[in-house]
Amino acid sequence: MDESSLSLQETNPEEYTDAMIQGIVMGGTDTSTLTTEWAMALLLQHPEAMQKARAEIDAHVGTARLVEESDIANLPYLQCVVKETFRLFPVGPILPAHEAMEDCTVGGFHVPRGTMVLVNIWAIQRDPKVWDAPDEFRPERFLVGGAVTTVTAPILTFGSGRRRCPGENLGVRLVSVALAALVQCFEWDVSEGCAIDMAEGAAWLHRLRCYPFYCSYSGYQDELLWAAAWLHRASRGNGTFLSYVRANGLQLGAGDDDFSFSWDDKRAGAKVLLARGFLRRRLAGLELYKAHSDSYICALVPGTATFQPSQYTPGGLISRGGGGGSGMQYVTTATFLLLAYAKYLRSSGTCAVCGGRDVAPAELVALAKRQVDYVLGKNPAATSYMVGFGARFPRRLHHRGASMPSVRAHPARIGCDQGFAYLHSGEDDPNVLVGAVVGGPDARDGFVDDRDSYGQTEPATYINAPLVGALAFFAGTAKQGKY
Ligand code: HEM
Repeated sequence: MDESSLSLQETNPEEYTDAMIQGIVMGGTDTSTLTTEWAMALLLQHPEAMQKARAEIDAHVGTARLVEESDIANLPYLQCVVKETFRLFPVGPILPAHEAMEDCTVGGFHVPRGTMVLVNIWAIQRDPKVWDAPDEFRPERFLVGGAVTTVTAPILTFGSGRRRCPGENLGVRLVSVALAALVQCFEWDVSEGCAIDMAEGAAWLHRLRCYPFYCSYSGYQDELLWAAAWLHRASRGNGTFLSYVRANGLQLGAGDDDFSFSWDDKRAGAKVLLARGFLRRRLAGLELYKAHSDSYICALVPGTATFQPSQYTPGGLISRGGGGGSGMQYVTTATFLLLAYAKYLRSSGTCAVCGGRDVAPAELVALAKRQVDYVLGKNPAATSYMVGFGARFPRRLHHRGASMPSVRAHPARIGCDQGFAYLHSGEDDPNVLVGAVVGGPDARDGFVDDRDSYGQTEPATYINAPLVGALAFFAGTAKQGKY
């Protein structure tokens, strides 16, 4: 749609102005997504309505394919849910201001030409004189004999008259298909102990107040530093991001000595990336990041004054999580940083300074290699923590897709709670996630291949992604004999 608007602007710039195109984009996106969010919140609050909507989709569409726009006509209950959402939570509770073009009389009131007219549709759509139990969510109110009624009572969510929304059809279809697909594909829930806050936000658009779902224990400062460091790199040295790092780095954690790099805490990674700017380009203000990167790296290097033996298991695996869950993330992230740092040091002809000793890049690469070897099977348990690699690897992953039968073997729906039967079955996975790396051994190199031991058997992207970088290094750069 954006593309065709812009090409129309080229041929007819007077009619297709920037303001006009912006109006279509802005008017068409937030409105539909906000309505979908309200519909989701309403269904979450009314499980019986959710059940009916799902049963209807199951009966008319099934689970073998995704619901499509052409299915909506056969989903009257879902259409009613959408209508009831438009009624209860119009995204613009007060219509945009209009102006009377000539003198007129409305409901006995004289309205002179030029008067600004504001319509409170929120009040109209909850008017007890018009709607039975107006504040209640009752999708059935639009259903007569199983068919959706044409609404006679006023629903003005899309405005009224000549300037009413020209995107009404598209808006209704967008919300209906998005909602239907979400109901069909997901089991929804709010976290334990949480409730949905249906309070309406104060803004022109009627927003559902949402709480952050990304629960970052370390706060978001490290992510800001991480993002600024990457944007600086990705924009090939755009000064704006570097100025941001220089001005805010210390508040964002640049001064802390941190020894873990995990899904939650990105400081060590950000510092190594920023150290690159100092090592390769001598960028002022980034010396600090080289010093901090040295201190992170040196704690891992045996034989240096700052080496921390507690960082390793007896069998030689990095053990920064103190043996807690998903310890493998510390191994793969540290391995990745050892290699990235070795590359930066090598290209600038320097070493890591560990107390009184200089540590050359090749030593860091050798250290990283030992970690990768451990992960792939050279360890006391003689187990490869990469599924499908070697003779012995985890067979019972804490992973729904791996442990449940495929849709071919079991075409019927498997509800959220029904997954527990597979979780506790004790059987090997029917679907082998070849290549996935799991949470790994404990602080004493022990490993229990049990789905319930999720800290050990869950394969997470934050474990796997850094290892891909390390494996690529050993498959490419290292083979060229540079180290
Ligand atoms: C849930 C979806 C939507 C809702 C609730 C909604 C609601 C509204 C409302 C209340 C107005 C103001 C009407 C008035 O002035 O009285 C409006 C105007 C407008 N809407 Fe929508 N809209 C939706 C979706 C869309 C879509 C998908 C598009 C286009 C892709 C669109 C494009 C527009 C435009 C261009 C106007 C300005 C019309 C004018 O000023 O003449 N809307 N919309």
